[in-house]
Amino acid sequence: MNTPVFEGRFRDKVVVVTGAAQGIGFAVASRVVSEGGDVLFVDRAEIVREAVADLCTERAAACVADLETHAGAETAMRHAADQFGRIDILINNVGGAIRMRPYEAFEPGQIEAEIRRSLMPTLYCCHAVLPHLFKRGAGTIVNVSSNATRGIHRVPYSAAKGGINALTQSLAMEVAERNIRVVATAPGGTEAPPRRVPRNAEGDTTQEQGWMRDVVTQVKQSNFMKRYGTLSEQVAPILFLASDEASYITGSVLPVAGGDLG
Ligand SMILES: NC(=O)c1ccc[n+]([C@@H]2O[C@H](COP(=O)([O-])OP(=O)(O)OC[C@H]3O[C@@H](n4cnc5c(N)ncnc54)[C@H](O)[C@@H]3O)[C@@H](O)[C@H]2O)c1
Repeated sequence: MNTPVFEGRFRDKVVVVTGAAQGIGFAVASRVVSEGGDVLFVDRAEIVREAVADLCTERAAACVADLETHAGAETAMRHAADQFGRIDILINNVGGAIRMRPYEAFEPGQIEAEIRRSLMPTLYCCHAVLPHLFKRGAGTIVNVSSNATRGIHRVPYSAAKGGINALTQSLAMEVAERNIRVVATAPGGTEAPPRRVPRNAEGDTTQEQGWMRDVVTQVKQSNFMKRYGTLSEQVAPILFLASDEASYITGSVLPVAGGDLG
């Protein structure tokens, strides 16, 4: 299923997309380019440079930064402002469960790693982008959360995404009078090409692969449509919320999970 391209929907908009080397982030960022926007593709993986080079357009630029640090988030926002003159929209997409396992099987360091991966980049990027949006007097932030705020074998990730939902609502309340919207989507399980950058660099053990299968079963059973979504089905609502069509929507988290509300 392909989402229609809305010709020119992001013309004259400068958009920063995080985690843009692959998956949902790359699909979102490249779609914004097709719809006329200037886009900074941010990722800590060097392959983001190739991904951008392949698009063959000056309206796409790459930035390698580790967004688990505040300095990385500041670098990315400064890069976008230097390259394109300002920032209009930030799409915070970095995240993803590193490990699937029952909560009692997580080691303390693994719990922290999930929070660093799926909460801190969005917290830091929201903080780092605000001066740019205040300067412009307007802006939109779209956070990519998850319906896995309710789900098995990924409790720390659920907690991180619950944090994303909370910061979306609280920040939206704080900055609405400054003409800034803050919104989120909560995707369900999504089919995507094999990852070039794995979620877990150590690889999954046989036992973890079994726990992953339990998660897939749970995800399919918990949604009305009994299936995973496609990349296009995740891209479309993110871009709608990022666009001016959603000008009266702020503080909302939109479930995009076949009826599973998370
Ligand atoms: N794929 C799904 O089924 C699914 C379901 C629900 C929610 N989500 C959410 O959607 C978002 C994207 O998921 P995906 O599966 O496309 O991701 P992915 O794991 O395929 O890609 C994530 C990208 O982020 C980059 N990245 C990771 N940590 C980073 C850091 N500290 N700094 C900069 N870049 C970093 C990686 O290099 C990678 O390119 C995530 O927030 C995820 O939680 C995904």
